[in-house]
Amino acid sequence: MRPLLLLAPLAWLLLAEAKGDAQPEDSLLVLTVATRETEGFRRFKRSAQFFNYKIQVLGLGEDWNGGQETPAGGGQKVRLLKKALEKHSDKENLVILFTDSYDVVFASGPRELLKKFRQAKSQVVFSAEELIYPDRRLEAKYPVVSDGKRFLGSGGFIGYAPNLSKLVSEWEGQDSDSDQLFYTRIFLDPKKRERINITLDHRCRIFQNLDGALDEVVLKFEMGHVRARNLAHDTLPVVIHGNGPTKDEALPVVLVGVFIEQPTPFLSLFFRRLLRLRYPQKQIRLFIHNHVRHHKAQVEQFLTEHGDKYQSVKLVGPETRVASADARNMGADLCRQDRSCSCYFSMDAEIALKFPYTTKYGRLQSEIQKDCLIVIVGSWTQGGGTKSALSCSSRLWSPLSLTLSDQWLPLPLSPSGVWNVPYISSVYLIKGSALRGELQQKDLFHHSKLDPDMSFCANIRQQDTFMFLTNRHTFGHLLSLDSYKTTHLHNDLWEVFNNPEDWKEKYIHENYTQALEGKLVETPCPDVYWFPIFTETACDELVEEMEHFGQWSVGDNKDNRIQGGYENVPTIDIHMNQIGFEREWHKFLVEYVAPMTEKLYPGYYTRAQFDLAFVVRYKPDEQPSLMPHHDASTFTINIALNRVGVDYEGGGCRFLRYNCSIRAPRKGWTLLHPGRLTHYHEGLPTTKGTRYIAVSFVDP
Ligand SMILES: *[C@@H]1O[C@H](CO)[C@@H](O)[C@H](O)[C@H]1NC(C)=O
Ligand SMILES: *[C@@H]1O[C@H](CO)[C@@H](O)[C@H](O)[C@H]1NC(C)=O
Ligand SMILES: *[C@@H]1O[C@H](CO)[C@@H](O)[C@H](O)[C@H]1NC(C)=O
Ligand SMILES: *[C@@H]1O[C@H](CO)[C@@H](O)[C@H](O)[C@H]1NC(C)=O
Repeated sequence: MRPLLLLAPLAWLLLAEAKGDAQPEDSLLVLTVATRETEGFRRFKRSAQFFNYKIQVLGLGEDWNGGQETPAGGGQKVRLLKKALEKHSDKENLVILFTDSYDVVFASGPRELLKKFRQAKSQVVFSAEELIYPDRRLEAKYPVVSDGKRFLGSGGFIGYAPNLSKLVSEWEGQDSDSDQLFYTRIFLDPKKRERINITLDHRCRIFQNLDGALDEVVLKFEMGHVRARNLAHDTLPVVIHGNGPTKDEALPVVLVGVFIEQPTPFLSLFFRRLLRLRYPQKQIRLFIHNHVRHHKAQVEQFLTEHGDKYQSVKLVGPETRVASADARNMGADLCRQDRSCSCYFSMDAEIALKFPYTTKYGRLQSEIQKDCLIVIVGSWTQGGGTKSALSCSSRLWSPLSLTLSDQWLPLPLSPSGVWNVPYISSVYLIKGSALRGELQQKDLFHHSKLDPDMSFCANIRQQDTFMFLTNRHTFGHLLSLDSYKTTHLHNDLWEVFNNPEDWKEKYIHENYTQALEGKLVETPCPDVYWFPIFTETACDELVEEMEHFGQWSVGDNKDNRIQGGYENVPTIDIHMNQIGFEREWHKFLVEYVAPMTEKLYPGYYTRAQFDLAFVVRYKPDEQPSLMPHHDASTFTINIALNRVGVDYEGGGCRFLRYNCSIRAPRKGWTLLHPGRLTHYHEGLPTTKGTRYIAVSFVDP
């Protein structure tokens, strides 16, 4: 019940505040329906009294016949309102605010409310919502808005009495009919909308529905006042409504099936994204099939750390030797057997689902509410880097990769880009009701000699059930699994060519892009630049990879590499080529270091050729420091791979010519300095622990 948590301090402060500063406004009347005095209702009353609102409660003591107190149902509220407005229908200067009360509080007084209402320049203003409810098919009829929420919400509206009276005069429904649908139909009739003069509060200047909008609202405490601020629209709404599905338990239960069928890079990112899925974990049941021994520990660790956040968890591991098709059948059947399972969301681990944390809560939910039976969510790009070939603008794209009969011509079903397709895989949603209905056949994933995905689609087509693909949003991309090797300790490090986008997300510091824009770059010594480049994970994995390899060496066993005296002074180190990482390291230099040098040394272009690149280890009892030397390079990068004060003490780097030292290198940050000639330097002694740095001498 997150909204209540949010509202509790608000109400408390409202009470704590001794005086209200608003004047009573005769021309405003608040009407609300409450059949019972719930705790929520009393909170509403307190906040109304605090601001001197004049309220009239309709229906107290009456039996509630309006069904669930949700937007489906609620007709009783319209009946009561219609009756109450009869006696006000000719009061042209009376403004009526009608609002729910069980989950509503005021954040400001009548004067501000009236001012904002008048500024809206309409006779009637309804609250607006992010999600359409209860009938999604009406979406196309809604006027498009460039900014703000598009759909009508019946939880709160304000208007002149005669117009409101006209609005509800048409009501002849049952108490259990939907009030939301009633108002929506009037609003969507352009003639009525104009005549009664109705608009929506798209930018939450008056009404803030917390449904689907928790992210855009913050509470602002200021000198005894409290306001809710809508960050998305920079508004200070007056009526705060903690309605609808923000009450997590009101969202339908979804079974998420995760399939790890082959060695897959960036599984850690997959799990991180799964955790960030904007859907309450208590409403998610998790089914994981891991077919890969190599990933066993990682999957189990994820479940140990996070499993109890989910409503339930079932893991089928590699030791059970369940075949892929059988596991997929198990997943689908778990949802089929569970009547509370409203949706089955199946995803393969090579899916990089990006939308859950880049956009607002509710997108998955709105996909779930769509009327199609099966949806593959997303427009996918294969192999990272490249941009989507499948975007809303390119209608000519054909999802057909197979030759099937004409009936599967990929005509867009609607302008919004939901397509009927013959074949889906990797990630899709299936309605629980479809699994219990058309698709109740248990063995969906076997079909003659086809593989599980093809079998699934063939079986569905045989049922004459349609599959749909939506390309209305970009949801992410597919990883490339080609040539993924599992021979190293941290194999993802080697994926900079195959999956550059994910490599960047995992290994490149989140503030690198800012550094590239010139922000955050420090100059601790003359001509020495210092900026973030690696994530913690990059540092840790590189060190662990080197320690795993273990052949630290100094001096003569590296003679073949230091011919010509490139490495002027020997260090205890392991070179990138010793672990077969030189191509990848070069790619990293080209992609991430070269652009920086071009920024910092204008006019200088590098192909980032390097002769030497290695990880150095400094220890008090091994090699604590490095005597003064010139690097045999045009420029040098020196990345700190662990943390001073935590992992080691001492250390750092001193440039003799400038008598300038960097004593507290930051983990993941690199020093970038000229090599030959000017930047004669030494490695300062490490006095305790082990210090690691990654060094690269780069030539034009
Ligand atoms: C509602 O508003 C309009 C202004 O657009 C006005 O002309 C009309 O008379 C009002 N009253 C009713 C009952 O619709
Ligand atoms: C409501 O009336 C005002 C003028 O009275 C007009 O500018 C506005 O467009 C009308 N809105 C609708 C939805 O008809
Ligand atoms: C990135 O920079 C912001 C401030 O600009 C800072 O708050 C954040 O901690 C930085 N991120 C990391 C990982 O250091
Ligand atoms: C170098 O700087 C330190 C203080 O940072 C100072 O004590 C020392 O005398 C300087 N050495 C030279 C050679 O200038």
